[in-house]
Amino acid sequence: MGRTLTFKIFRYNPYDPLSRPHIQEYSLEETPRLNLFNALNMIRDEQDPTLMFDFVCRAGICGSCAMLINGRPTLACRTLTSDLPKVIELYPLPFFKMIGDLSVDTGVWFREIAQRVESWIHSGKEFDPGAEEARMDNKTAVAIYNAERCIECGCCIAGCATANVRQDFMGAAGLNRIARFMIDPRDERGHESWFELVSTDEGVFGCIGMMACDDVCPKDIPLLDTFAFIRRYMVRCGVR
Ligand code: SF4
Ligand code: FES
Repeated sequence: MGRTLTFKIFRYNPYDPLSRPHIQEYSLEETPRLNLFNALNMIRDEQDPTLMFDFVCRAGICGSCAMLINGRPTLACRTLTSDLPKVIELYPLPFFKMIGDLSVDTGVWFREIAQRVESWIHSGKEFDPGAEEARMDNKTAVAIYNAERCIECGCCIAGCATANVRQDFMGAAGLNRIARFMIDPRDERGHESWFELVSTDEGVFGCIGMMACDDVCPKDIPLLDTFAFIRRYMVRCGVR
């Protein structure tokens, strides 16, 4: 016999002047291999069609289902209820603009970061559509691939002490994005540009070293290594 789960879910619609933030409780019978994606859909289908939350892929790829699950930022679609106690508290990710209930807008923040980082390869070379694909050594390709695995879920930002007190901090996801282009030999931005972009309190020196980002990243992106790489790079820039 499965457990009866109690869901305590944060409710608030910022677009409704009558709405007030509060916690609403729902009960659900647990079934084998139940994940939070299915649980929330069952609650919405059978108990409360007004409940707001986001899902797209259901497979840990789109990054849209991140929320605070019993206080920890993580992906709902990758969380089994059997790994949680029978009382499950769900809150939206802090830091990001709230849409309603468990739904937040991470897209605006990630777009701004992409613009700040100028998230494209800067090269003076003219594009030649007939040219052969540029070769790259394996170690560099793997490092770029690792940074590119970020699904922009926002968990690292929601779990970050610095990001939660200052909106301008680039956070682990932003710094990971920068490292991706620093590593890339095709990007011709020099030490000076990188130093200007990253060696500030908004950049790598805003990090106070709690490293919750590395603990909560659902894609296991090596964020500790990323920070160490950027700091070493900044020291090299500084002594030049
Ligand atoms: Fe999510 Fe990890 Fe990317 Fe942060 S670095 S946004 S936790 S996938
Ligand atoms: Fe896409 Fe969870 S629904 S990551």
